[in-house]
Amino acid sequence: MENKEQFGSRFAAIAAMAGSAIGLGNIWRFPYMVGEYGGAAFIFIYIISSFLLSVPIFFAEFIIGRRSGANCLGAMRRLAPRSRWRLLGILCILTPSIILSYYAVVGGWSFSYLLRAFTLDFPESFGSFTASPWQSVTAFAIYMAISCIIVAGGVKKGIGRFSKLAIPVLFVLIVVLAIYSVCLPGSSAGVEYLVKPDWSKVTTRTFVNAIGQSFYSISLGMGIIITYASYVSKKENIILSGTGTAISDLFFALIAGFAIMPAVFAAGIEPGSGPGLIFDTLPFIFTSMSESAPLLGKLVAIIFFLAVAIAALTSSVSLIEVPVAWLTEEKGFKRGKATLLVFLVTGTIGALCALGFGPLAGVKIFGHSLFECFDLLSCNVLLPLGGLLCVLFVGWKMKPENFRDEFTNGGSLKFNEKIFGVIRFLIRYVAPIAVILIFLSNFI
Ligand code: PHE
Repeated sequence: MENKEQFGSRFAAIAAMAGSAIGLGNIWRFPYMVGEYGGAAFIFIYIISSFLLSVPIFFAEFIIGRRSGANCLGAMRRLAPRSRWRLLGILCILTPSIILSYYAVVGGWSFSYLLRAFTLDFPESFGSFTASPWQSVTAFAIYMAISCIIVAGGVKKGIGRFSKLAIPVLFVLIVVLAIYSVCLPGSSAGVEYLVKPDWSKVTTRTFVNAIGQSFYSISLGMGIIITYASYVSKKENIILSGTGTAISDLFFALIAGFAIMPAVFAAGIEPGSGPGLIFDTLPFIFTSMSESAPLLGKLVAIIFFLAVAIAALTSSVSLIEVPVAWLTEEKGFKRGKATLLVFLVTGTIGALCALGFGPLAGVKIFGHSLFECFDLLSCNVLLPLGGLLCVLFVGWKMKPENFRDEFTNGGSLKFNEKIFGVIRFLIRYVAPIAVILIFLSNFI
């Protein structure tokens, strides 16, 4: 096998995977879901489903990537030559490109709000901001360019180095915000919203949402873990990488909840989720805070939007790397040129998504804007499908010896036999059945 670039250290590899996992989903969806679906009861179900379902799927993707040492399509060519599994490779190149087109639009907004936080000059309303074509397209283009520059820097010097810096900074920023937020007068209702277990709010939808969120949050089903694992050393412990990523992601989501909800409750506002929470509610809180303490309001706003921008950036970088790895390894592109091509293609589609909030607002596909279509299509169809194919491949197509070989690193790591049995059972039976059920639940 050719000499491939690697992350360089365990910390860099886990930071890159955690960077992909920690993103907008942790900030704008998780805290809201916790409150809506029963506080600690939801957190409990979320943790169980992460470990029983998402982490085994992570293992399956990791095994495909590290065993083949190749990008998604190359991996299928090496592990299952001339077979229909090629479709899994194609799917895993397509999905991140689609997600990138709309995810980076939101990334652009976060950059623009970060700049505005310095003067606390937030737009009148979020709607008026996104409707202005040049503002959101320029912010999007700058954000995409920065993400692409990091990817063009290479796996070790670009993505690895950036993630090693970004992840610790991100944790410090969010912890500072959480401490500040829970100390605000009137914040206790927000803390209660997050932690008070309310089992009466637990329904089938709670399970579906908990599993779906943990799936999206760990960045599964879109070839990211396959691609990143191909840069991980053969000596790395797969169980540590999987649990390390899942635990960092969970911690970040919880702390983000404590950074946001107590402040929202202290301001006496009903919490929401999605862009409205970050770009409407919170700027309003920062601005009103600054009326009594101008400097403090500004500082908190800057810290918050810096955290959002960094969290989004590490996720976009992972999305860009998937097609770039394919172009460089399979199509003979130089890394710089491959990144430029991804920038141009997804940049054009993303610009159309951004314009859908303004001049192209009338263009609808089945009643949805392009942005919404991409979000719905990827979360509800493409991610579950990608995840399902990965577990089926590793659970049913790959030889059990190869599976064991990846866990033990060729026999050098010792594990209790029962652990293999449990993980294999989860990958072969539990994960596929659960993913199919989740998928079907979209239609009821
Ligand atoms: N895991 C990311 C989050 O929680 C979501 C993501 C989606 C990351 C797509 C990369 C790609 O926001």
